[in-house]
Amino acid sequence: MNFISSLDNLRVALKSNVINQPHFRSPHRLQVLIVGDGTGPAYASVFTGVDAKVRNVRPDTGDISPATIDVVIVGPDVPASTLLLGRLRSILTANGVLVVAGAPVVGWQPDRDARTDVWVSPFGPSFETITSFCFGASASRHSPDLTLALATPVQNTFPPGVPDEVEHGAGTLDCYQFLVDLHEHVRPRFYTEIGVEYGASLKFAQCPALGIDPAPQLSEALPAHHAVSLTTSDDFFRLADTTAMKSIDLCYIDGMHQIEFALKDFMNMERFCHAGSVVIVDDIYPAHPLQGERIRQSRYWTGDIWKIIPILERHRPDLIVLPVDTEPTGSLMVLGLDPTNNVLWDNFDTIIDDAIDNMTDVPRSIVDRTGKIDARAKVMKKILKIVRKRRETTRMSESLNQIRELLARPKLREVRGR
Ligand SMILES: C[S@@+](CC[C@H](N)C(=O)[O-])C[C@H]1O[C@@H](n2cnc3c(N)ncnc32)[C@H](O)[C@@H]1O
Repeated sequence: MNFISSLDNLRVALKSNVINQPHFRSPHRLQVLIVGDGTGPAYASVFTGVDAKVRNVRPDTGDISPATIDVVIVGPDVPASTLLLGRLRSILTANGVLVVAGAPVVGWQPDRDARTDVWVSPFGPSFETITSFCFGASASRHSPDLTLALATPVQNTFPPGVPDEVEHGAGTLDCYQFLVDLHEHVRPRFYTEIGVEYGASLKFAQCPALGIDPAPQLSEALPAHHAVSLTTSDDFFRLADTTAMKSIDLCYIDGMHQIEFALKDFMNMERFCHAGSVVIVDDIYPAHPLQGERIRQSRYWTGDIWKIIPILERHRPDLIVLPVDTEPTGSLMVLGLDPTNNVLWDNFDTIIDDAIDNMTDVPRSIVDRTGKIDARAKVMKKILKIVRKRRETTRMSESLNQIRELLARPKLREVRGR
């Protein structure tokens, strides 16, 4: 198991209760103890970008000096008995924080002046409860940390000497032209994108728009109707104030290039969608298998976002999942969004474990773009016209069936004038 949601849950607890505390900031070196039996999440990997000394111990290790540890984490692989929690409390410093992840804590009362933060993760199938007992000065509430601390580092480098046969794209229409066409035909009233970078895709939005990117490099000032949240998408949806987010007509997912991030981005965005929303996921088609690796190996890098196609096809047959043949690395158009659907949330870790552990080779059908649709196909305009006309009506679900029928007509998948 990869425990992806457990690692994310710990990030939320630490950003809400530990690294936002002034007394834990540099030059203080955070002393962290992870209590586990060796079969749980690799929590130590979460502590990137913070000055921390992290140790893993078994629950029966009894040689830690009292009042020396800032943060103790008890993983889901260890039963949090009152005896164990009492013992761990004694090794915490006066301002220490004890985080218990997994089942709810039953029958253990911390000191009267401690603050207890209990949070239930929305990610199944474990739906962990994360309880943070905050002592001393850590009992004071502060806004959650929204910096890049604890974030998975973005992979901007790749090994030298990648052969030319790897470094190329494919496709029939530039992905930016596809976006321009989408804006023209969908005429969104609100647009959102994850992954803003230089602002090259955000600038196409004539409507109010929100971008999410922790480190954008905007080349020009934003117009008044655009805003950018300087957070990772995970932090934005779980820790930030999301009131700037409105009902989405069009959105573009182009952030972190690993499947667990792209799937979470899709799931979080869908919560703000309606049946007539259009969601685009970029980078679904590596043009060479090396481009589709989880760990970056080349300049052209799609990561393993391609896995979102089989995942949505398998787990969300209610959606219309349309891989579009854009240049350089393909775009996935998703229609029929349902913000009440919980299937991906309920099965998140199982789906991601399967994607990471079993979908290891980029299939030929992905590199060959089997099943793609040309962005200039006759059917595309017809679909977008239906979406725009019907999106506010109760007839949208009927219209989705009409779209399915149109897509089944081979003549309409051809490009006009060819
Ligand atoms: C490929 S660029 C986006 C390009 C932009 N959409 C365009 O077409 O002009 C990817 C961006 O995703 C951002 N990014 C990386 N990890 C992210 C995360 N976890 N959440 C949000 N954005 C992220 C990076 O900072 C980078 O600017």
